[in-house]
Amino acid sequence: MHIGPWHFANPVFVAPMAGVTDRPYRRLCKALGASYAVCEMAASNPQLWHSVKTAQRTDHTGEPDPVAVQIAGADPAMMAEAALFNIRKGARIIDINMGCPVKKVCHNAAGSALMRQPELVARILDEVVRVCLPQQVPVTLKIRTGWDRNRRNALEIARLAESIGVAAVTVHGRTRCDFYQGQAEYDTIRTLKQNLAIPVIANGDIDSPAKARQVLDYTGADALMVGRAAQGRPWIFAQINHFLATGKHLPLPTYGQLHAHLLGHLQDHYSFYGEHSGVRSARKHIAWYLRDLPGSTALLSRIMPIESSALQSRALDAWFSRQDPHTHIPSPTLH
Ligand SMILES: Cc1cc2nc3c(=O)[nH]c(=O)nc-3n(C[C@H](O)[C@H](O)[C@H](O)COP(=O)(O)O)c2cc1C
Repeated sequence: MHIGPWHFANPVFVAPMAGVTDRPYRRLCKALGASYAVCEMAASNPQLWHSVKTAQRTDHTGEPDPVAVQIAGADPAMMAEAALFNIRKGARIIDINMGCPVKKVCHNAAGSALMRQPELVARILDEVVRVCLPQQVPVTLKIRTGWDRNRRNALEIARLAESIGVAAVTVHGRTRCDFYQGQAEYDTIRTLKQNLAIPVIANGDIDSPAKARQVLDYTGADALMVGRAAQGRPWIFAQINHFLATGKHLPLPTYGQLHAHLLGHLQDHYSFYGEHSGVRSARKHIAWYLRDLPGSTALLSRIMPIESSALQSRALDAWFSRQDPHTHIPSPTLH
C-alpha cells in the first residue's frame, strides 16, 4: 500500500476524528500498529490559523512521518493556501475532507455537502493538487458514498479526483444523509476499487479483526481505516494486523497492559494540552478505555469531577492496583 511516494508497512490506518485523533493518540495508534494516521481537520480559513487549537493541531513534533493533515472548506484558493500552510508546518500528505456530515462543516457547503457539486470539487482538487505537486506532497480525498441513497456519486467524484492527480481515496460506506445510522455498505467501495487505478481505502463499521478481513476481501480495497472502534482501544490495530497476517487472534490486553497503555497515553496527553485543558479532554479517553470493564461505572463517576492530572491518574492507579494485572480484559461491547 502506498500514497504517492510513501509506503506503508500494513494496510490498517486510524481514521481522522476531530477531538480524538490528536497527536498523543495518533502516536499511540502508530506505536500499536496503525501504519498511518491523519491529523484531525484543520480549518481552511486563515483567520483561524493563529488560534491555540490550530497551533496545537499543527504541532507534529515527534510524530513519525508521513505526517498527514486533513483540510476542509469550499473555497478553492483558501484550500490551496491551507494546504501550503500545513506543508510549511510539516505535513507530508494533504487529505481533503469531503466525508464529514457535521452541520458546522456542511453549512459552509464543505465536508460531504461538496459531493453535490462536482464542478466545485474539481476546482478545489485542481487548486490543491497544483500547489502540493511541486512540493512532492500527495493529495488524498475522503468521501462518503454520496449525498443520499438516491445520489450515490462516489464513483463520479473519485474518477474526477483520479483524473486530477489525487493519490488515494478513502470511502466511508454511508451517504451524508445516513449520518451514522444503519450499517455501512461496501458495494460502493468495491465498485470504486474495480474502476480506479489509485489506492482505495475502505472505511465504516470495521470493528474487529474478522470484519477487517471480510471488508478487505469483499472490496479488494488497498487499506482500511478504523475510527470509532479504536476509541479507547488502540491495540485494535495490532489485533487486526496479526489476524490479517496469520488468521489467528491475539489475546486482548491484560489489566496490567491496559493500565500501562492508559497511563502512557495520559502522560503524553497532559504534556501536550497542559494541566487545565489536559485533565478535561482526557476524560472522554478514560471513559472509552474503561467502558467495558466490570465495576468501572463507579470509578468513572468518581474520576469525572477530578480537576488535577495527578489526582486523575492516581485514582486510576488505585483502581488498577485492585485488579489482577495478568487477567485479560473482557471482550468489548460495541456501542
Ligand atoms: C468523533 C468523530 C469525529 C470525526 N471527525 C472527522 C473528521 O474530522 N474528518 C473526517 O474526515 N472524518 C471524521 N469522522 C469520520 C471518521 O473518520 C470515519 O469516517 C467514520 O467514523 C466511520 O468510520 P468508523 O465506523 O470506523 O468510525 C469523525 C468521526 C467521529 C466519530
